[in-house]
Amino acid sequence: MRSADQVRGEFIEFFRQRGHTVVPSAPVVPAGDPTLLFTNAGMNQFKDVFLGTGRRDYSRAVDSQKIIRVSGKHNDLEEVGRDTYHHTFFEMLGNWSFGDYGKREAITWAWELLTRVWGLPKERLYATVYLDDEEAEGLWKSETDIDPAHIFRFDRENFWEMGETGPCGPSSEIHIDLGETVGPLSLAKDPKRGVNSGDPRFIELWNLVFIRFERQPDGSLAPLAKSHVDTGMGFERILSVLQGSNSNYETDVFRPILDHVAEISGRAYSPDGDGTPHRVIADHVRMLTFSITDGVTPSNEGRGYVARRILRRAARFGRELGVKEPFIHRLVPTVVRVLGGAYPEIAERQGHVMQVVRAEEESFGLTLDRGLEYIYGIIERVKAAGGNVIPAEDKFKLADTYGFPPDMTDQIARERGLGVDEAGYRELMERQREKSRAESRFGWQSDPARWAKQLGSEASSRFLGYDLKKTEAVLLGADETSVVLDQTPFYAESGGQVADQGEIRGGAGFVFRVEAAHKAGALVVHEGRFTEGGTEAATPGATVEAAVDLERRTATARNHTATHLLHRALRDCLGEGAVQAGSLVSPDYLRFDFNHYSRVSEETILEIERRVNAVVREDRPVITRIKSYDQAVAEGATALFGEKYESRVRVVEVEGYSQELCGGTHVRASGEIGAFVITAESSVASGVRRIEALTGEKAAEYLLERSHLVDSLRALLPAAGQDSLDAQVEELLRERKGLQKEIDELKKEKVRQQVEQDVLSQFEDIGGVRLFTPPSLDCDGEALKQAADKFRESAGARAVGLFSAVQDRKLLFVCAVTDDLVQEGKLKAGELVGQAARAAGGGGGGKPHLATAGGKQPEKLDEAVEAFKRAVREKLS
Ligand code: SER
Repeated sequence: MRSADQVRGEFIEFFRQRGHTVVPSAPVVPAGDPTLLFTNAGMNQFKDVFLGTGRRDYSRAVDSQKIIRVSGKHNDLEEVGRDTYHHTFFEMLGNWSFGDYGKREAITWAWELLTRVWGLPKERLYATVYLDDEEAEGLWKSETDIDPAHIFRFDRENFWEMGETGPCGPSSEIHIDLGETVGPLSLAKDPKRGVNSGDPRFIELWNLVFIRFERQPDGSLAPLAKSHVDTGMGFERILSVLQGSNSNYETDVFRPILDHVAEISGRAYSPDGDGTPHRVIADHVRMLTFSITDGVTPSNEGRGYVARRILRRAARFGRELGVKEPFIHRLVPTVVRVLGGAYPEIAERQGHVMQVVRAEEESFGLTLDRGLEYIYGIIERVKAAGGNVIPAEDKFKLADTYGFPPDMTDQIARERGLGVDEAGYRELMERQREKSRAESRFGWQSDPARWAKQLGSEASSRFLGYDLKKTEAVLLGADETSVVLDQTPFYAESGGQVADQGEIRGGAGFVFRVEAAHKAGALVVHEGRFTEGGTEAATPGATVEAAVDLERRTATARNHTATHLLHRALRDCLGEGAVQAGSLVSPDYLRFDFNHYSRVSEETILEIERRVNAVVREDRPVITRIKSYDQAVAEGATALFGEKYESRVRVVEVEGYSQELCGGTHVRASGEIGAFVITAESSVASGVRRIEALTGEKAAEYLLERSHLVDSLRALLPAAGQDSLDAQVEELLRERKGLQKEIDELKKEKVRQQVEQDVLSQFEDIGGVRLFTPPSLDCDGEALKQAADKFRESAGARAVGLFSAVQDRKLLFVCAVTDDLVQEGKLKAGELVGQAARAAGGGGGGKPHLATAGGKQPEKLDEAVEAFKRAVREKLS
C-alpha cells in the first residue's frame, strides 16, 4: 500500500518530469488578497498570473497546497465530520500551465497518472465536461482509452470559479465509482445519475479547469488574454482510493489522530454516525495546527474568529465524548508526526501552536460556563412569562457575545421543552454576515488592481528607492486620487513598513501630494491628491519628478534597521522561539510582536536595550544582497513564518549581527540609528507579546525628558542624600502607610470617646428602651463596628443604637442591641439595620445583637434614621 508521503511524492515527480517547476505551498493565510479569507484553492497564489497582472519565471508549476475552506462557495462547516470527505483543512495536489499547454496535455497526463502509474480501474472512472465543450469531449475520446459511454456533460458542475469575482472557466472532472461496498446498487445502473448526485459511492477525484475568463463584479465574463490550465485533486480523497478505504478518515493522514482522540476520550472510533465527534476533532485540529502555524491567532474578527469557532466546535464535540479538560492541544504532536515531513513549518511551530490552542481551550471552558448561566436565566424568564420560545435575540447574543455554540442553545432548549425563534435568528445572522463581508474589504482609496488591468501585464514601476530618494520618471496613468509611474523612489507599504510620502511634480503643470503607495502586481500606485493642477495636466507619457519626503524616509529606515536588531537581541535573550509575529515600522516609532509566553522582565528589557545600543555604537555596515532563498536560509538568514518568498530573495545584513529576508529600506550603517529605547512591553494575545520602541531623535527626546523628570522629582524630595530615587520613594510610601495607620487608630479612639461622652447622653425613651441615633461619625466600617461594640458595653441594658458613617459617597450603618433586649426577642439588629439601609437605596443584615448594612444614597441619611426609629417603635408597641 502506498503511504501518504509516497502518493504526494509521486504526483509531484510525475509532473516534474514533464517540465513543471516544483513550487512550495503558499501559506494558508493569503498574502495581499483582500477578497480572500484563507487560501481556498491551489491557484490562489497564481491569481495574478491568470489575470495578466503578474508573471513568474516558469510557465508550468506543480505543488501540494495547504487549503482551508470553512464557509462560502466551497464548503459548509456544519457538514464537516458528519460525512467522510468534507474537511476544513486539506491538501490539494495541482499542476498548472500559464499560457503554455492546454486541454490535451491536461487530460492525457491526468489519465496516464491515474490509470498507468496508480493503476486505477478504468471501468470505474468517469469524465465530465462542460455543456458545450466539444473539444474536451473529443480529446477524452481520441487521447485516452476511457469508455466513451463514461463521458458526460454537465452545466454548473463543470464551470469552476474562484469566488464572486476572479478567474474562472469550464472544467473537466474525473470521478470514480467506489463500487458496491459503499452505495446503493440502484444508482449504478445509471452511472450518470451517480456522478455529481451527492451519492457517496461516486466521488470527484480531479478537477481540470481551463481558465479563460474573469468574472466581473457586475456578473459578466471578461475573456482573459491567455488561456491557462489549473488542476486540483483533493489529496485525502485520492489517498483513500489508493489505500482502498472508503473514507478519507481511514487513511494514514487521519487514522493516527482518530486513534489519539479515542485514547484520550476512552471511546473507540466508529466509522459510522457515532464517529462524528472523533472526525470533527481530527479535522479541526489539523486546521488549527496549520492556520496558527501560518500566523493566525484566535480572536473575535476575521481569520482569528474562524479559528476560534473551529476550536470551539472541536471542544464541544470533545464534551460529547465526555472530555471536559483541555485536550485538543495534546493532539497537535500527532498532526505533526503525520504531516510534519511534508510541511516542516508545523514541526518548527509545534510548541507555539500547542500553547495557543491550550490557552484558547481554557478560556472557552469559562465561556461555556458563562453561556450556560445566561441561557438558564433566559429559560427561567421565558417560562415565568408563560412563553415557550427562546427569542432570536438571545440565541444570537449567546452565539455572538458569549461564543456559545448555537446548536447547544437548541439542544438545551429542547431538553427544557422550549422552542427557538429560528427564523429570527437566521435573519440576525444574515445581517451580521453582511456587515462582516462589508468590513473585510480593505480600505484602499483607489483600486490598485484596476491600474494593473488598465495598463496591461507588461507595465511595471521599477523601484529605485533603495538608492534614490528623488528621480525623473514617465507618467503611465493618473486619476483624481492616484498616479502610476514607470519608475519610482516611493516605497509601497509592505512587510510592516509604511509607505513613503512626498511629491510628484509635472513641470509647471501639476503637483501631486503622495500620501501612500501600494503595490499592484508589478506596479506601484501612488495615492494622494493634486495640490496644483489636476488630471488634465497629468497625461500619460509626461516626464515628472518624483521626490520622497527625506526626513520621514530616514526616520522610517532607522526604525526598520532597529527592528532587525531588536529581533536578533530578543532571540538571543529569550531563545530562538521569540520569533516575529507582526511588525509596524513607521517614522514615529516601531512596534514588534513576537511569540513569548510571559512578561519580559525589566532586567531583560534593559539587557536588550544595551545590546541594541552597543550594535548602534559599533556602527556596523548594513549590506543588502540578492540570493537564492535556499542559500539565504542555509546561511542563517531569518525568514518569517507564513510569508511567501520568491526563489530569489533580498537579504539585509547588519554585518556580523543580524540577517533577515526583507524588502524594506534601511540605514547604511547601524550608527545612523543614533539611539534605541523601549517604551512599552505588553501582551496582545495569548502567547504573543508586543514591544514598542523609539530611535534617533525621538529616542533622545524621550530619554532627555525622562532624565529631567527624574531631576525634578529629586528636587521635590526632602533630603536627597545618597539614596537612589526609587529607594527614597519607597521610603516615602512606607512612611505614608505608617501615618495612615496612626490616623486610623486615632480616629477609632476618637470615635470611642465620642460614644462615651456625647452619644450616651442623647437618646429617646420609648417605654423604657433607650433609642440612640447619634449624628454620623467620621470613620471607616471597622471603627464604626467598634463604636457599636463600645456602645453595647457602656450602655449596659435596655438600649438600641444606629451608628452611621459616610465613606466614598456610600452610607455605612451598624445597629447594636443590648443582650437583654435580644433575649426578649422583639428587637433584632439584623432586621432593623435592613429597614434603615433600604430607605437609602441599599441593604444588609446580620446577627440580632450587631448587624451592618450599606446604602447607596448618602443624601437619604435622615430618611434612613427615621425608618429605623419607626421600625423600633413598631416592634415595641
Ligand atoms: N481551482 C480548481 C479547484 O480548486 C482546480 O485547481 O478545484
